[in-house]
Amino acid sequence: MFHGRFINRIVILTGAGISAESGLSTFRDADGLWEKHDPMEIATPEAFARDPALVYRFYNARRNQLPQVEPNDAHRALARLQQEFPGDVFLVTQNVDDLHERGGSAEVCHMHGELNSMLCAACESAMPAAADYDADSDCPGCGIRGRLRPDVVWFGEMPYHMEEIELRLMDCDLFVAIGTSGVVYPAAGFVQRALAHGALTVEVNKEVSDVTGFFHQQRKGPATREVAVLVEELLAG
Ligand code: OAD
Repeated sequence: MFHGRFINRIVILTGAGISAESGLSTFRDADGLWEKHDPMEIATPEAFARDPALVYRFYNARRNQLPQVEPNDAHRALARLQQEFPGDVFLVTQNVDDLHERGGSAEVCHMHGELNSMLCAACESAMPAAADYDADSDCPGCGIRGRLRPDVVWFGEMPYHMEEIELRLMDCDLFVAIGTSGVVYPAAGFVQRALAHGALTVEVNKEVSDVTGFFHQQRKGPATREVAVLVEELLAG
């Protein structure tokens, strides 16, 4: 039981706020990435066509940051929940970092792609990102030059795994959103989808988000503290 409810299936959505205390910038906070860069100049297919060098530089730099940061207590608590909760825990993230995996999560649904992956537009395969890339890079699979792009979802593109996510949202007892501003759809709409199907909804955020009003509970504070407490409560039954 969790707040008087029987909980068997949990969907957890994470955003940049869960990785903030590991040292990765969020997008929309005061020192966020989109305060320094115009997303329309970086994170759209049109931007990539216009100025690929700028886009490669941005994603190479973000990928190169990953070995310099460590997962935090919030990533680790969610991994523990996935391992120890007797029901089902589906973890979907908008983050393109690898901190959930390095925090111990074996199953992570990366709806916005991953920094550690590249896509080849020529052979349409995804492959681990092994180095810095530029407009002259060869695809290690098909050998064709200049068709690699970051395996991340840009504005105007369809996120990955939407069919599975929709099914999970329709069937969950508890939906939790952690460290996300509720601005970018479709992820911002997940809470309404879960609510419509009768789920209890909990938000963890250090601020009020754009969709706070759709949550039954708001747990205000840093993810490292609030997620650890939430996981203890869920495992206590
Ligand atoms: P945002 O930068 O929009 O929001 C981060 C949220 O995390 C804010 O609501 C903060 O209040 C909260 N936050 C920051 N630090 C926190 C902490 N220590 N503990 C708890 N909460 C904290 O990031 P996202 O919502 O993830 O997409 O952004 C969604 C998408 O917009 C991203 O996946 C990316 C971006 O454009 C694409 O690039 C397509």
